[in-house]
Amino acid sequence: MKERLVISVSGKGGVGKTTTSGLLSRIIAEQTQRSLLLVDADPVMNLPRALGVDVPASVGEIASQMRKKIDDGTLPASAAKQDILEGEIFEALIEGDRFDFLAMGRTEGEGCYCYVNRILTQILDTLTMNYEITLLDMTAGLEHFSRRTDRNVDILIIVIDSSRAAFEAALRIRDLAKEVHIDFKKLVVIGNRIPANLVDAVSQGLEENDLFLAGMIPNDDEVAKLNYMGKPVFDLPDDSPAFQAVEGIAEKLGLLSEVTLLKLLGQ
Ligand SMILES: Nc1ncnc2c1ncn2[C@@H]1O[C@H](COP(=O)(O)OP(=O)(O)OP(=O)(O)O)[C@@H](O)[C@H]1O
Ligand SMILES: [Mg+2]
Repeated sequence: MKERLVISVSGKGGVGKTTTSGLLSRIIAEQTQRSLLLVDADPVMNLPRALGVDVPASVGEIASQMRKKIDDGTLPASAAKQDILEGEIFEALIEGDRFDFLAMGRTEGEGCYCYVNRILTQILDTLTMNYEITLLDMTAGLEHFSRRTDRNVDILIIVIDSSRAAFEAALRIRDLAKEVHIDFKKLVVIGNRIPANLVDAVSQGLEENDLFLAGMIPNDDEVAKLNYMGKPVFDLPDDSPAFQAVEGIAEKLGLLSEVTLLKLLGQ
């Protein structure tokens, strides 16, 4: 039986995916004994800054170099390409005290990445098997659903703000996931920075559309300040409203109790 848990954080652009991923990973790392891999799956790569880590190389860069070497024949045909790529990806993995981090980044240049991508998918699947919990900070687009990047996801978190577009994106994500037959254990919505006069309407809208609201994160001046100052959201004080809200959400999702976590891990 599977003994790991994959959580993906999705939603429209700018709604707070990276902020939520950063806070959630800190809470999981600090409050559970589980090994955690945090993946920045967004090519724009905002997560390293949100966490305050330096990325030596992204998986995309490594894949691009590999493709170039295959194209200009600098790699002998006999070379075990999967082993080489795997070794390089392990070098891109940042090992922290509390969790590990991997930035996907983007591949450079045109041409066919099919071969490299196929190896990459295998390596990443193997890599996530080494962790009890993997958390993916996804890109704003919806293509990853059609590409079924999320096929192994157990908990899909959709972040929305108070914009109509964010709400509609949540509905599209849910429908798309159904269309491509991705079967999540949990599909939940987090409302971020929903103004007080819209809290009821948003809750009702989600309920009418059979979307489960895991909780709301209030607008938090300290989050905005850290971001502006270029400081990691990781540094947010424990007693700040956004931190407390994400902690409550983690609890509601069953991530902080050993009993519910064991169930989620499939043990
Ligand atoms: N609860 C909050 N209180 C105050 N500021 C917030 C809050 N949530 C997010 N922000 C700010 O909003 C901006 C966008 O947040 P974030 O980067 O988390 O969104 P995102 O969904 O990851 O964006 P993208 O689609 O570009 O990856 C950032 O400047 C962040 O600091
Ligand atoms: Mg982001």
